Amino acid sequence: MEKNKDDCSNKEQEEEQVVNPWVVSVKDGGKIDYDKLIDKFGCQRLDQSLIDRVERLTGRSPHVFLRRGVFFAHRDFGEILDSYERGDKFYLYTGRGPSSESLHLGHLIPFLFTKYLQDAFKVPLVIQLTDDEKCMWKNLSVEESQRLARENAKDIIACGFDISRTFIFSDFDYVGGDFYKNMVRVAKCVTYNKAVGIFGFTGEDHIGKVSFPPIQAVPSFPSSFPHLFSGNDRLRCLIPCAIDQDPYFRMTRDVAPRIGYHKPALIESSFFPALQGETGKMNASVPCSAIYVTDSAKQIKDKINRYAFSGGQDSIELHRKHGANLEVDIPIKYLGFFLEDDAELEHIRKEYGAGRMLTGEVKKRLIEVLTDIVERHKRARAAVTDEMVDAFMAVRPLPNMFS
Ligand code: TYM
Repeated sequence: MEKNKDDCSNKEQEEEQVVNPWVVSVKDGGKIDYDKLIDKFGCQRLDQSLIDRVERLTGRSPHVFLRRGVFFAHRDFGEILDSYERGDKFYLYTGRGPSSESLHLGHLIPFLFTKYLQDAFKVPLVIQLTDDEKCMWKNLSVEESQRLARENAKDIIACGFDISRTFIFSDFDYVGGDFYKNMVRVAKCVTYNKAVGIFGFTGEDHIGKVSFPPIQAVPSFPSSFPHLFSGNDRLRCLIPCAIDQDPYFRMTRDVAPRIGYHKPALIESSFFPALQGETGKMNASVPCSAIYVTDSAKQIKDKINRYAFSGGQDSIELHRKHGANLEVDIPIKYLGFFLEDDAELEHIRKEYGAGRMLTGEVKKRLIEVLTDIVERHKRARAAVTDEMVDAFMAVRPLPNMFS
């Protein structure tokens, strides 16, 4: 078993920080310590040499999320690049659990990055919509979860994925056949005790939750998609996601060789933080923590002005004297994700940190940047029709997916 010290939920609650697919929190208002997380989960830090290799292999400058360390950890990403260099392709796998009407900016991070990887490496992509997961965890009806999955699919398609290389599926519609056979193969390898150790299930959790992890595991195996990868059982899989999803794939990687498959590789991001600060991730279930891709310009402005935690000082005099604490400042963090111009970001950091720029000015620039992204996303989403959703979700071969 790969390193996994989080042996049960009670133990986790006593820990300084809890990061799993359902909870991201730090005790007493502290910040998530990503180094500790790498150590605890047993993944590797994404270092500059890997980023340089991506640039060399794709002939493109690395995505801003790579340059700025947003994607900071990985498992076997080097092996994916090794085999790509030898001429072997791979496929991408990511997903979304449709728990809300629309995505928030944090959800965009893995999808925007996945689009970049798809374009740069010219490889196929499968996107899983775990409507069953959210039905079970969020107590939504089956029908409501399915409706949200289709709504979320529109947001995902609006990120610009290439339909000739992308298959989107909902679990309620797709699970069966070879996919289900792989689920059973995985399930037989994971004891209940092991599942409790990885996911922290308790006696009060219903058995639907306990039986879910194989469903998120098996898109990592090409044979789950016979209409895409028939005869290509050794194709490697790369999963871009935030690090909260790591437990699912620790389990998957543990089981894979035992049932004759490659372990999936992962490339993992830190969290786009909540408006209130870096103690948690932006959370769709806490509306004032999040900026949604459907928010109006006014909502974005109001949320940032009211809620975005500032590292600025209490008075202008003190601010001019001491400057802002950039370590805790949310507007600076957000600009680090979404302001593409490195020189401008550096300038703002320097001026704000030295107290020459005020919080209000930094927030104003952030409002412009985010409004622009959200408005562009809304236009792209408005152009996504039901027919397009059906086309992305059609069970079909993708004849030119590697070209
Ligand atoms: P979900 O819907 O919670 O999240 C979708 C994707 O967004 C990432 N994410 C974030 N990234 C950065 N900052 C944040 N604040 C933030 N919040 C969420 C998640 O890590 C995820 O990549 N069970 C999954 C759905 C799923 C999946 C997958 C995800 C199924 N198969 C394979 C990744 C890879 C879920 O509920 O994700």
